[in-house]
Amino acid sequence: MNRLNIKNICCIGAGYVGGPTMSVIADKCPNIIINVVDLNEQRIKNWNDPDFDKLPIYEPGLGEIVKRCRNKNLFFSNLIREKIQEADMIFISVNTPTKKRGLGAGKASDLKWVEACARQVAQFSKGHTIVVEKSTLPVRTAEVIKSILNEVEKSLKDNSEPKTFDVLSNPEFLSEGSAINDLLNPDRVLIGGENIHAINSLVEIYKNWVSEEKILTTNVWSSELAKLTSNAFLAQRVSSINSISALCEVTGANVKEVARAIGSDSRIGSKFLNSGPGFGGSCFKKDILNLVYLSEFFGLPEVAAFWESVVNLNSWHQNRISRLITKKLFGTLSNKKIVVLGFAFKANTNDTRESAAIQICKNLLDEEAYLVIHDPKVKFEQIEIDLEKNVLGNDSIDKNKLNISKGGNWHFADNLNKIFENADAVIILTEWDIYKKLNWQEVSKIMRRPSWIFDTRSILNTNDIKELGLNFWQIGDGIG
Ligand code: UDX
Ligand code: UDX
Repeated sequence: MNRLNIKNICCIGAGYVGGPTMSVIADKCPNIIINVVDLNEQRIKNWNDPDFDKLPIYEPGLGEIVKRCRNKNLFFSNLIREKIQEADMIFISVNTPTKKRGLGAGKASDLKWVEACARQVAQFSKGHTIVVEKSTLPVRTAEVIKSILNEVEKSLKDNSEPKTFDVLSNPEFLSEGSAINDLLNPDRVLIGGENIHAINSLVEIYKNWVSEEKILTTNVWSSELAKLTSNAFLAQRVSSINSISALCEVTGANVKEVARAIGSDSRIGSKFLNSGPGFGGSCFKKDILNLVYLSEFFGLPEVAAFWESVVNLNSWHQNRISRLITKKLFGTLSNKKIVVLGFAFKANTNDTRESAAIQICKNLLDEEAYLVIHDPKVKFEQIEIDLEKNVLGNDSIDKNKLNISKGGNWHFADNLNKIFENADAVIILTEWDIYKKLNWQEVSKIMRRPSWIFDTRSILNTNDIKELGLNFWQIGDGIG
């Protein structure tokens, strides 16, 4: 197989994707030197922290891998220029948020960081460099990267050292919370590109632990579009089952029973049919909005409207949950204490990007509720940013002398001790294991009556909770 022998990789972006992906490649390819670089100095400091519990990203299994490889063949630094110079393969793994203003605002991805990276690569690289786009990007982004790099190729003076580039698309399918396992045992690895030698170089890296039949190669545009479509299909399943949860609640059906029944059809399959508080995470909404933008751009308004409805349903669903909580608590949350269990967008991650908890908590705060928010991995400072601290100034309610940080009309609890005292309601928003194992009998004794438990993740047993004299609502349960 013709290929370039890769000895030195640089990854720009030490985030949720770059960090775990490079750690796994380093672990599986001890002969390759891997440098992960980032503009953010604090983030790099955290990656280099001697205490492996302080890595900037919480991912089960990540700490052990970093422990094995760090400062052997895996290095984290802010030395962007130097490490680009040394690399023969460069992964671009920077964030691509939805554009806030200008053309495509609210839908299109902001490519300013990707473009900046391409310019840095163009300026600092030496010899032949394979550039791999890892960030989730709108279709035809490789073209942007390529045209920047081509300009450099063309503009080089005759006597300067030649610089040449190949661009590959290698989208990430890792799911947070199970990222390490997803990287170690992927369903497939997708590599899009034009130059077979460049493609083969990346194939060779993955072949160190992934069987060849799972490595799919396509053209660049198919690879980019496959990534967006994959996330759009997954998100569409979540919106589909969430829409059915609302119907179950009013018709006396149970969404878990419906999901089991439809999921047994092998054509449908059983995964991604858990109704919850609405999908979150950094990718789903952004990728669908990208599809919407692309479809509109290419004159396909019906296609755009179809995908946009998946996002609209998700927002409606989150608002539906906060509305129904308010209704059950007699239409007013003023002077009521609500304990929020979980703020991350799913269990086993400290990531809160697009978490349903953000919108739901904001709505409850708008209704003048007093919230006590707990999450085993999310930090107070992050919640403060997400809730924009002073959403409301109402801070006059008795806080039960909890030893917890203060911020607006909500409090952060870093443990579960005493937080249920005099609470009117408890809302489970993230499916953390510790919430399944809570002693609900003890909780029921210290809450204010009538007490409500809202389980948006369907992790509790309805009968167990009801036996304790608690009022209970579970997502999609029209029977209980
Ligand atoms: C990833 C993907 O790359 C993104 O496209 C996808 O949509 C979401 O997941 P992620 O790793 O989760 O992004 O993003 P983040 O955790 O924000 O990390 C990106 C890092 O890139 C940040 O640490 C940021 O400081 C860094 N960065 C950004 C640079 O080093 N240079 C830049 O020019 C821009
Ligand atoms: C997703 C994709 O799964 C991954 O392949 C891609 O590369 C990045 O985006 P991630 O966002 O980390 O991964 O998490 P995922 O497990 O897909 O969950 C997304 C959201 O959907 C979460 O809020 C989750 O709670 C929700 N969800 C998922 C449900 O509500 N029900 C389900 O059945 C599954």
